[in-house]
Formats: sequence, C-alpha cells, structure tokens
Amino acid sequence: MKTTRRHLLALAALGPGLGLAGTAAFAADKPLVIGFSQVGAESEWRTANSNSIKDAAKQAGITLKFADAQQKQENQVKAIRSFIAQRVDVIAFSPVVESGWDTVLREAKNARIPVILTDRAVKVSDPSLYVTFIGSDFVEEGRKAGRWLVDWARKNAPAGDVNIVELQGTVGSAPALDRKRGFEEILASEPRLKIVRSQSGDFTRAKGKEVMEAFLKAKDKKIHVLFAHNDDMAIGAIQAIEEAGLKPAKDIAIVSIDGVRGAFQAMAAGKLNVTVECNPMLGPQLMQLAKDVVAGKSVARRITTEEGVFTADVAAKELPNRKY
Ligand code: AHR
Repeated sequence: MKTTRRHLLALAALGPGLGLAGTAAFAADKPLVIGFSQVGAESEWRTANSNSIKDAAKQAGITLKFADAQQKQENQVKAIRSFIAQRVDVIAFSPVVESGWDTVLREAKNARIPVILTDRAVKVSDPSLYVTFIGSDFVEEGRKAGRWLVDWARKNAPAGDVNIVELQGTVGSAPALDRKRGFEEILASEPRLKIVRSQSGDFTRAKGKEVMEAFLKAKDKKIHVLFAHNDDMAIGAIQAIEEAGLKPAKDIAIVSIDGVRGAFQAMAAGKLNVTVECNPMLGPQLMQLAKDVVAGKSVARRITTEEGVFTADVAAKELPNRKY
C-alpha cells in the first residue's frame, strides 16, 4: 500500500499506541488542509469565532474547508463525512450538542484523520476519538455569573426571595448544560436566590427576546434578575424589557456571558449589569495545534482559555480595546 504524507502524519497524531509517533516530521511539502465544521452564525460570538479561524488559517498558509452547520447536528455529521471523503489532514469542529458523535468520529479514526474539538466538548464512549479540545471552561463561566449575582444581591436586593429568570442556550449544548450547572452550584449557597423560570432561547437575539416577552407576560412573579447564557439573548431580552415599559439593569438586573462588543455597548448605555467573558479568538491556537498534531508532536488533551468578568462601570473604558 502506498503511504501518503497525510496517512503517516495522521497515524503519528493518533498516538504511540500505533507505534508511529514521531514519524511525521518530514515532507511537509503541501499546505495542510483542515476541514472545519462550525455550529452556525447564531451570535456575535460565533461570527467573531468564525472570522478568527478563517483569518488564522490564511495567516498560517493552511487550506481551510469551512462548513456552516446552521445549528443542526445532522449537517455537522454530513460535513465531517465529506471531510473524510476528501481526505483532509485534520478535522476540527465545534459541536452543536454534546452527544451523538461516536459513530462519525469512529469513521474519522478509521480513516486515520485526527480530530480537534474547538469551543465545545463532546460526550463519547471512547476518549481516543479526538486528540485535543481547546475552549472555555463553561462551568466556571456559570460560576462567575453566580458569584457576581450573590455579591450583587447581598448589596442591592431587598430582603426576601430574589426571583431569577434564565435564558438557556441551545438545548443539549455543552455551554448551556455547563453554564447552568456552574450558576446553580453557586446559587446553592444563597437559598433566597431562586430560578423561577428557565427556557432555551437557542443563543439567538430573536429567541431571547421572544422568550423574555413570555416571561414578562406571565406576571405571576416579580422578576428581579435575568441570567442569560449569552450576550445575544440578553440583548434581545433588553428590547423585550424596554418594550414592557421597564428599565433593564435597574428594574431587572441582567448578567450574561460572552463579552461581545454589543454587551459592552449595552453596559455603557446602562442596560446590562455584567458580562462574563468567553473568548472566541481560538483561530491562531487551533492552527498551531493542527500543525503540531500533524507533525506528531504531543499536545495537551485539554487547553482552557483565560477569561475575565466585566461590569458596567468599566464598560466605556474597555469598549475601545475589545477585539470582538
Ligand atoms: O459555545 C459558545 C457559545 O456559543 C457562546 O456563548 C454563544 O454566544 C455561542 O453561540
């Protein structure tokens, strides 16, 4: 059988178990080809993430085959199969949801194409189905939102229950599951902080607005706080709150996640209290990782991005520095 460069490089990346680690560092004659399946274009964050990946590929001289899954797992499965058929050097993807990946990732492994996860994790029965995962710690992001809220409530909320409504991200996605978990973990220490309503807004502005309108219409419980799993849903909800004749960030405190420019503008305008940063600029690290994996270098199994928390009082000063 003729052994191609891609073949040997991928074998090396799949690990010492195959007895080929290190054999890959030769004949890097052709540009590297990465097949990347993106979740979609559901948020400002996602647009920044796609741009970062496309720009970094160009910079690194890597051929990028980019597929937009329009928030559908079936489209991602199709894209991954097409990358396998095209025999790309590396497959990278940001999974829409956590589960249901075993079959297609096994197909990639059988084709000896290494897989890199970016942004979101998967739940698979066999950990060797992907090489590495680069992205945020979503549980910690949820905790950061929770910690801000506990502190805010101690200083600002009147005695008695503090009613929270929650706009969840895409059902079954890692950020929605993990952010909820981290947030609830912190809330457990303050029993008067209660989530009274929780529904998915699918990480989009339109859905965030629609679900917030429904929360506001219910009128059975006063809403003190909104926790949105991303800034886009918070921005949609801000519109709903204003249309209901209320003042966002004053009548209803709002905590969200991402740290996109739109959130900084909302904070500077006094309409959002805080955003927990989730860094989408993963492109340069992804390109380096792909090169390392193909060169047979050992890479960390998990690479976590560093992130901060930004409150309204620093928004105007920080706005000009924001890269997304
Ligand atoms: O996976 C990251 C999340 O997905 C971001 O918080 C959100 O804006 C995006 O759509």
